[in-house]
This record gives sequence, structure tokens and C-alpha cells, in this order.
Amino acid sequence: MRITYRRENNKEYWAKRWDNIPSDYSMENPNVYPLKFAQLTVQSKEGKILEAGCGAGRILRYYANKGYNIVGIDFIGNTVKKLKKTDQTLKVEAGDITDLTYNDKSFKYVLAFGLYHNLHHDLDKAIKETYRVLETGGKVCASFRADNLQTSLTDWLIEHRARKDGINTHPEEFHKRNLTQSEFVSLFKDAGFEVEAVYPVENMPIFYKFSFFRSRKHKIFNEQIGRKDGYELSTLGSFIQRNLMRFFPRQFCNIFVLIARKPDTIKHAAKKF
Ligand SMILES: C[S@@+](CC[C@H](N)C(=O)[O-])C[C@H]1O[C@@H](n2cnc3c(N)ncnc32)[C@H](O)[C@@H]1O
Repeated sequence: MRITYRRENNKEYWAKRWDNIPSDYSMENPNVYPLKFAQLTVQSKEGKILEAGCGAGRILRYYANKGYNIVGIDFIGNTVKKLKKTDQTLKVEAGDITDLTYNDKSFKYVLAFGLYHNLHHDLDKAIKETYRVLETGGKVCASFRADNLQTSLTDWLIEHRARKDGINTHPEEFHKRNLTQSEFVSLFKDAGFEVEAVYPVENMPIFYKFSFFRSRKHKIFNEQIGRKDGYELSTLGSFIQRNLMRFFPRQFCNIFVLIARKPDTIKHAAKKF
């Protein structure tokens, strides 16, 4: 495990990030993260979905617009307020994954993209809460920042650019945890889940941080477009990234996405993966 530090703490980072953009549009591209993995998980319209850490709402809005019974929570109150204002029919509220207000077995699915790595403490508690609110046989889809070469390079690049901008203080605030695939899997197994699949995924490739490697539509960075379409690279950028992912997926992904099931009995929680 590696911890990424920045100059603002994790909650300040998210508050600022969501303050800077309007609520998301519904995500449209089903071939990219996170919608692709949400669709692998949510296989029936029956049963409730919890999107934990719904952020600016691209997944929440996608499922709500399609008539699914979905509730979103996020610990940044302002993004929740914005989403409510954008669409009053959305079920969305402020909440913390480490202490959910829902009854046991309230949901058939929990979607938690980029959520758990924000927890400096209480990660086990958050995964236990997820287990508690899922029905038996229910599924969680979660993504986690990878502890690998790509995220190390990304952290180095951000730090390098900060120093170039004359910011010379040392980053000391907790930003995110980075885990290896096996550390991530163990956390879920230890909580009683049966892990069905883990995918190395490129959400935002490091090349996307250079406009030269971005697709024409993405040359001028617009987070709202990136969040709706996925972060698109140019032909050259895609070629390089595709080959890095082909030969070194665990080192050049930036996240791992896991799909796990709450088994019928604790006995069945034994190691499928
Ligand atoms: C990577 S963003 C993902 C947003 C959204 N799920 C998506 O895929 O677009 C992670 C979100 O988790 C939220 N978050 C972080 N810690 C949280 C906690 N303890 N409880 C609830 N939400 C949290 C952040 O505010 C942020 O909106």
C-alpha cells in the first residue's frame, strides 16, 4: 500500500472539485469506465441500487433516467444540493459510507466507484457497512486507485507541476490510498464477500494529462465532457496506452475494479477468486 499526500486533505479536495463543475449529465458511453462496470454488475431492474460516493451524479442520473430504483449518497453536501436542484426527482442525500443510515439488506446492488480509497481510517468499517446493507446474493462494484507505476508517475507529475508553479511546501495531507490488486481483494474477502472478478482499468491515463495526447474534442480540458464520454486520447495516445495495457495491465492501469457478491452463507464466502 502507498499513500498519496497533497496540500489539501481529501474532503477539501472533493468539495473544491465538485464546486468547480456543474452536476454531471447522465453518462453516455457504455464502453468505458465506470458505466461499463456498472452494467456488468446491475443485471436486473428489480431491487434497489445504492450509489455510494455519487459525486456529480453521472451514474446516478444514468440509472434514474432509465427508471431504476437508485439512491445516491455523498459526503460532500454541496454536490448533493446541486444534484437535487438539477433534478428534483433524484433520490440523493448527504451520507458517509462508514456509517450508513439504511437498514440491513436494503439494497440489491452497491456501486462505489472511486470511493473506498478516500478513507484514511475506517476502510474496514466502510466495507463492513457495504456488506451489511446488501441483500444476500446482492453485488457490489467498487473501484480503487492502484498501487503501481502509473499512479506513482501521476503523483510525481502533479508534484513536479506544483513545484514549477512555485508551490514549495511539502504535501502532508492525506489524499488517497493506493492498493495492489491482492490487497484490494483481501479486504473484500475478509468482510465475507465472494470476489467474482477484478479488472485493471484505465480511467484517466497519464497521457491524458498532456494535451498533445488527447483526442481533438478533448484538447481543451473540460471535465464535464471527460466525465460524460470518458477521457479520450488521440490515435497516437490510444495506441501507446493500449499496448501498455496489453503487456503490463497491472502497472499501467490507474484503478482496479472489483465485482463481489454477498454469498448465501458465510461458508460460501470461501475463496472463489
Ligand atoms: C471518484 S469520486 C466518484 C464519483 C462518482 N461515483 C463517479 O463515478 O462519477 C468519489 C466520491 O466519493 C465521495 N466520498 C469520499 N469519501 C466518502 C465517504 N466517506 N462517504 C461518502 N462519500 C464519500 C467523494 O466526495 C466523491 O464524490
